[in-house]
Amino acid sequence: MGVFRRTDLLAAERINQKSWMALKSLAGVRRRQVGGLLHDRLPQAVMHLLRTTGEFAERRGVSIYVVGGFVRDLLLGIDSLDIDLVVEGDGIAFARALAKDKGGRVTAHERFGTAVLLLPDGFKLDVATARTEYYEYPTALPTVQQCSIKKDLHRRDFTINALAVGLNPRMFGRLIDFYGGQRDLKARVIRVLHSLSFVEDPTRVFRAIRFELRFGFHLGQETLALIKGAVKMELFPRLSGRRLLNELRYLFSERTPRHAVRRLADFDLLRSIHPTLSWSSRLNRRLIEIEERLVWYKIFCVDQTISPWLLYVMTLAEALPEPAVQEVLERFPFTESERTDITAARFAAQHVCRQLSRRPPLRPSETVRLLTGLSDEFLVFLLSKNTSASAKREISAYLTTYRTVRPVLKGKQLKVLGFTPGPQYSAILARLTEARLDGSVSSEAEERDLIARLVEENRAG
Ligand code: CTP
Repeated sequence: MGVFRRTDLLAAERINQKSWMALKSLAGVRRRQVGGLLHDRLPQAVMHLLRTTGEFAERRGVSIYVVGGFVRDLLLGIDSLDIDLVVEGDGIAFARALAKDKGGRVTAHERFGTAVLLLPDGFKLDVATARTEYYEYPTALPTVQQCSIKKDLHRRDFTINALAVGLNPRMFGRLIDFYGGQRDLKARVIRVLHSLSFVEDPTRVFRAIRFELRFGFHLGQETLALIKGAVKMELFPRLSGRRLLNELRYLFSERTPRHAVRRLADFDLLRSIHPTLSWSSRLNRRLIEIEERLVWYKIFCVDQTISPWLLYVMTLAEALPEPAVQEVLERFPFTESERTDITAARFAAQHVCRQLSRRPPLRPSETVRLLTGLSDEFLVFLLSKNTSASAKREISAYLTTYRTVRPVLKGKQLKVLGFTPGPQYSAILARLTEARLDGSVSSEAEERDLIARLVEENRAG
């Protein structure tokens, strides 16, 4: 019943087949042409952008490549418009010159030799200087030196992310694979490029889990051993709260956060969130309940948005002892509203559920008064709790209908009826909304009657 027809699906299938064939025939080959694949998969405007950027680089006498996740996804047949460019030369100067040529705004990070170019049509290009990085000490930010694309790719996290495609006219569409990225994509394996990878950047462990789950890949044996080594070295407590939170946010934004939590537990990494956090069958059950409620939410609240990752953090917080929650809130730089949700999940959920389960049951307008201002994350969290049927019914009704209820009469009509704009308007509209919610009015005529009664009461009072 959707907008896709069978032919659309067949066409998509054919394109994926093509990517797969390309991947199969490329395995083990260091240099191949993927220009055709780019042409098949990219929107024309993006293809044009890549071509003209390559031509611009040629005129400036530098080589430029698209690298990383974009190339990986291209070969896997996954659409990605996250374009990371690497210049063999000064990336920032290149981005600035390109901005002059095409229009757009550049934000540069001198320390890393990187720049973000925002084009006039809203498209974003990340431009970096081909660079090696070395680390003064584990978990430090890297020190940077300009180098060749080969070395630049070597500093990257996994072989499947260490692929590049040339953009200059003389090598447009040439796939560059020095480290077996195609082989590993084909074997569906995640492998680091060298044994210090996780020591230099422990966040890569979270990335490994992310790609493992996203693509259904597995970790190479050595990589697995290196992760275990990194955990033993106790590198994770030294990571900044900001970096760790970023990784958790990405990880729990993937399709299967429950499995991600399980994987973190397998590697004894739940401890990196808080030393007292551990896997349990209760936690597993709670994560399943959250999953189920999120499915419900996506079906019934289509126009609403929610941050699933936050719900998972709230569920982890629920499993922690009270002082630990405070420590987590101190360690990670959550926003104010995220903090409110995490705190509420741990300390206020029971109270709200009890209120919603009161006898006699709340009127819809009372439910609205109780739940207005609470985030959807918190409401879905409440829905996932083992609470009374009436509480669940009220929360669902609030999320799907109550909060959209409005009177038919608007400010304009109130003015015609002789009311002066201001607080009086909001008070009357609030009364009309309550009456609609509770079913005491259901038509414009009844709303008018109610207003007349209110005016009468006012006069008498
Ligand atoms: N990278 C890395 N080590 C990290 C982070 C990133 O080596 N800790 C490299 C990888 O080559 C990666 C590229 O930088 O492909 C871009 O990083 P990012 O955009 O974070 O990742 P993607 O691979 O594009 O993944 P996603 O699809 O999740 O955006």
